[in-house]
Amino acid sequence: MADPVMRVDDLNVWFEVPGGEVHPVRDVSFELQRGERLGLVGESGCGKTTVMLALMGLLPPNASVSGRVLIDGVDLLERGEVSIREHRWRDVAMVFQGAMNAFNPVRRIGAQLLEPMVFHGVEKGAAAKSRACELLELVGLPATRFESFPHELSGGQRQRAAIAMALACRPKVLLADEPTTALDVIVQAQVLDLLQQLSDDLGLSLLIVTHDLPIVASLCHRSVVMYAGQVAESGAALDLVRNPLHPYTRLLHAATPEIGGSGPIASIPGVPPRLDHPFPGCAFVDRCDVADDACASQQPQLLEIAQGRAVRCLHPEVHQ
Ligand SMILES: Nc1ncnc2c1ncn2[C@@H]1O[C@H](COP(=O)(O)OP(=O)(O)O)[C@@H](O)[C@H]1O
Ligand SMILES: [Mg+2]
Repeated sequence: MADPVMRVDDLNVWFEVPGGEVHPVRDVSFELQRGERLGLVGESGCGKTTVMLALMGLLPPNASVSGRVLIDGVDLLERGEVSIREHRWRDVAMVFQGAMNAFNPVRRIGAQLLEPMVFHGVEKGAAAKSRACELLELVGLPATRFESFPHELSGGQRQRAAIAMALACRPKVLLADEPTTALDVIVQAQVLDLLQQLSDDLGLSLLIVTHDLPIVASLCHRSVVMYAGQVAESGAALDLVRNPLHPYTRLLHAATPEIGGSGPIASIPGVPPRLDHPFPGCAFVDRCDVADDACASQQPQLLEIAQGRAVRCLHPEVHQ
């Protein structure tokens, strides 16, 4: 049974820049079910981080937003900063891209873990300290790390501490932006295992951003592929890998090395389109290997072609 904890409806973000506007998030909609792990996938610059920052209400001042972000039916954007502030960290929390470097280098890990709990009135005094130690143990660090400075932790340990900090106020939804990108492969696998275990044990709903399709296939239940600010395709994570419908998803997969794989790795030719103007046709037309004249002039709509399976393409690769 579908039981969405978060629903994003027609999210749009614009950035005002000298001489105009960029539009990096275009009518993005998706649902995150309770306890679900959802992957948001796409090349660098396609708008993934901007989506996450919009969900947290942490966009810079040159941004404007439209659409709805519902957490258990309550719209976070309705009353702007006021309503987002009530939900940020308590309902939705985030592990930022490059979070390993997010700690203040001259303050102990423990003091930084206490901060969100005390600020949001979740715990105080001795109870806050004991919760901070519990959180460290929950993410696989010894409680003695409470007294450590960030530089005394390895990259993987700092990422664990960043996850602990995001969990401090017991959020319903955890957003993780490329949480393993800067880590070596062994530590990557350990951090992914931790996220999986936390979402299983705590019933946490996880929205994880990555450009790595195999990570999504092994960790996530469903995934949303973004291209040039739009949802190109969405569906069950394994289905997207085994049976991609959008040519971009297929090419993205072909461009990803597989462990033990012997096939050639093909990069996707060309570059994504500029985001400072509307697209006359399909955003992917210039790089697509099956595009025709219609694709250059007709904007494809995101069509739900089966339950939970949607694709934005005039010629989806439906294999009979
Ligand atoms: N503060 C900003 N002002 C102007 N443009 C921005 C700003 N932040 C991001 N962008 C632009 O928005 C687009 C999407 O960026 P981002 O969301 O970081 O992509 P991703 O996380 O998928 O790599 C990029 O073209 C980027 O240059
Ligand atoms: Mg990013």
